Amino acid sequence: MPGRLEGEVAIVTGGSGEIGGATVRLFAAGGAKVALHYSGRSESSTQRAENIVNELRVSGLDCFAIRANVSNYEEVESAVREVGERWGKLSILVCTAGLQGTVDTWNEDPLELDDAELLSAVNVDFLGSFHFLRACKDLMKKNGYGKIVFVSSTPTIYGEAAGYRFSLAKSMNRFSVKSLAEELIRNYGIYLNAIAPGTIDTQSNRKNYSEQQWKEMQSYIPLGKAGRPEDIARTALFLCSHDSDYVVGQTIVADGGEIRL
Ligand SMILES: NC(=O)c1ccc[n+]([C@@H]2O[C@H](COP(=O)([O-])OP(=O)(O)OC[C@H]3O[C@@H](n4cnc5c(N)ncnc54)[C@H](OP(=O)(O)O)[C@@H]3O)[C@@H](O)[C@H]2O)c1
Repeated sequence: MPGRLEGEVAIVTGGSGEIGGATVRLFAAGGAKVALHYSGRSESSTQRAENIVNELRVSGLDCFAIRANVSNYEEVESAVREVGERWGKLSILVCTAGLQGTVDTWNEDPLELDDAELLSAVNVDFLGSFHFLRACKDLMKKNGYGKIVFVSSTPTIYGEAAGYRFSLAKSMNRFSVKSLAEELIRNYGIYLNAIAPGTIDTQSNRKNYSEQQWKEMQSYIPLGKAGRPEDIARTALFLCSHDSDYVVGQTIVADGGEIRL
């Protein structure tokens, strides 16, 4: 049976990260050719990217890595051009690249942030997604079809001072989705949607909590457990496959039932 993404060509930004990595693996297994984006700003970043690419190639799947600082448009444009030159088309973009937080940055007082701190996540989470959208849209338009997903977060729905700098950037992503979805579908054939994950069990999340705190946090989730990166990857698969061909400009909440729209 052919995979749900057979014939598709995808870019996953932050593919070296946990949610991004799960998405790369799932999309490649679903039949897509996948360009894994990574920052290359540390040895570990390059290593994680290479490990996933090698793992998929050993399984006979088509994947390669593209490097860019998402805050720099020229680098993003050049990375997208590489994909076009290699595979001749592009039909899927999932943007997961985001500034990593800590307990301290999550609990900081928003009113005490200086401008650089305030804009730090905006420069990665928002600008990165916007840069990729802008660099990818014409390549997608060539075939009159594309699916783009921005990974946002649930505090953008209920509003919260905690994690303000992150939610600010993620809110801008959801604003882009609502504001640009109509033009993109009408003039480019591109579907633009967002996912708002709740608490996901990633290493970067876990390291900020004691076992007891983590347990307590999970007890607030109606499903009784944090999500896994694969849960977000599967939501992205829905939004990037033809199963969602009547879904435009939406945010899908994937949080185990905490927020009910
Ligand atoms: N985990 C959660 O509970 C949760 C909840 C809601 C939303 N989210 C969002 O989901 C996304 C993925 O989260 P995750 O937990 O998988 O995080 P992660 O493992 O830290 O992955 C984040 C990725 O962003 C990339 N990145 C950061 N700065 C970059 C830059 N300047 N240029 C290029 N790439 C950059 C990193 O690339 P390198 O490693 O190559 O440097 C990394 O691959 C994030 O946007 C996060 O905000 C997560």
